Parts: sequence; structure tokens; C-alpha cells
Amino acid sequence: MRHFLEVDDLSIDELRRVLQLSTQPDSPKMLDGQGVALIFEKPSGRTRNSMEMAVVQLGGHPMYIKPEELGIDTRETAEDVVRVMAGYHAALAARVFDHGRLQRMAATDAMPVINLLSDVAHPMQALADLLTIEQEIGLSDVGRVAYVGDANNVWRSLAIGCSMLGIDTAVASPPGHGPSELDVDRVLASGGSLLVTNDPQEAVQGADVVYTDVWTSMGQESEKEQRLDAFANFRVDSTLMSRASASGIFMHCLPAHRGEEVTNEVMESSRSKVFPQAHNRMHSARGLLSWIVGEAMGR
Ligand code: CP
Ligand code: NVA
Repeated sequence: MRHFLEVDDLSIDELRRVLQLSTQPDSPKMLDGQGVALIFEKPSGRTRNSMEMAVVQLGGHPMYIKPEELGIDTRETAEDVVRVMAGYHAALAARVFDHGRLQRMAATDAMPVINLLSDVAHPMQALADLLTIEQEIGLSDVGRVAYVGDANNVWRSLAIGCSMLGIDTAVASPPGHGPSELDVDRVLASGGSLLVTNDPQEAVQGADVVYTDVWTSMGQESEKEQRLDAFANFRVDSTLMSRASASGIFMHCLPAHRGEEVTNEVMESSRSKVFPQAHNRMHSARGLLSWIVGEAMGR
């Protein structure tokens, strides 16, 4: 039984295999006649749609479930929910406020549990990000991946995934919003190098990829005003992009707040790969699902 709560739940070979499976549009129908439970405690455009369509492409039935219908840890425990769902579905995927809830679900080993974004990690996003880098630049050719902004769930999974593939990363955040020592250790343990700075220009210098995410993540709305101030000098604009390599691309997990973390001009520039990146969410979801309900189960 395997779970996918963070990118390094995969070995390096497994990560490469999932990316390879993501490039195969005509995958075997691993989910024929089976369901996948999709639970969302927060809103989602890309993740819900890409997961539902990936399940369909694998011959399965996606079951969208609102958290209030299950009442996780109010109506019954998270552990009981997953043990019941295991009788109906091949896998359970959830977007949660508290990463610990996913860990408790996975610890039952009742069925594969997939993280669709938690306060800590967004590994399904990182798979699409790596697939996009492979397609746009080549994973063996990419130099630095620079992330500008909040060292949040999206950054953490991206940095771990890059590091596992030997890609050097840099992160520029305002004081108090950068990576923790534990984060740095985990990224470095995966094998790549990591530059941590408070200077966006230093991070972006010569980078092949410039990546950013919202300054205020879901669940942090009460901090919005303070964050607008703190991140004001961390906007990705054309001047900052001019520091990147001449062929450097711009990436964002989306949704983007144009005018906050990125300018409209950068979003609409030829360097911007945000829409192919978003579309890759479906392909990488299909790759991960194929692997977790197929090869990882010995099928
Ligand atoms: N990038 C991403 O996860 O988007 P959604 O929140 O719309 O699913
Ligand atoms: N960091 C953002 C990502 C949204 C896809 C959030 O957690 O809201």
C-alpha cells in the first residue's frame, strides 16, 4: 500500500516513472469499474477537474464529496471514513486544511491516500510542474529553478521534487516567510542545492524557471493586509524577469492574483507557461493514479 502525501513519498526512480507514465495519453484502463473518492475541504478549479478527468481517462468513476457530507472528525473519525471508503473506491484523494488529517488517513493503510493540497504540501502540483519543465526545457538541461514569494505548500513540494532530480533551486522570501530549517534539511536531503535569500534579484539571476504563487494561501485570509505589505517587493515583473536567463520561463500554479505576486505583462508574455502547466495537471494526475493503483499494487 503506497500513499502520496509529499513528492518524496516516491523514490527517485518512482518519480521518474510517474513522469514517464504522465506522457502516455493511452494508458491502460487501470480503474475500469472502480471509483476514486475526491474530498475537498477548500475550493479548487484545476485539481478537481484534472483529477476527475484523469480518473475518467483510466476508465474509473470520480466521486466528488463535500466535507460536510462526510463530517470528517465530527460525524466520524478520519480513520473510520477511509476504512469505509476503501470498500467502494480504489483510492482516496483529499484537499485538507490540516496535513495531519491526511497522515492519519494514510496510517490506516486501508487504501492509497493522495494529497490534493494541504497546509504543508501540494505534490500533485509539483508533478505537473516537473512535467512542464521537462517539456519546456528538459529536466537534464534545466539550471536554476527560482521561486519568489511565500515558502508555502507549493514551494515545498516543488523544491523537494526538483532536488530529487538534481535540479538546483533558489527561494527568495521576505523575513519570516522563508523556509524553516527543517524545510531546508528536507530539500537538501533529496540531493539538490538550495539558495535561500531575501533578495528576489539574487534568486532569479540566470534562472531558467521563475516561479511564484499567491502571497495569501487559502486559510490565511485574516493575514492578507499584513502579507500585502510584507511581499510588496516580491512581485514578479518584467524587470525581475530580465534577470533570468534569456530563455527563462515563468511558471505559477494558479490561480494568479494579477498585480499582486505577478504582473499582467509577465502573465501574458511569451515566457509565461502557466496554461500548459495547468493543462499538465491532468496528465500528471493520470500518471500518478496509474502508478499508485497499478504498479505500486503489483498490477
Ligand atoms: N493549482 C491548483 O491547485 O489550483 P486549484 O486550487 O484551482 O485546484
Ligand atoms: N498556496 C496556495 C496554492 C493554491 C493552489 C494555497 O494553498 O492556497
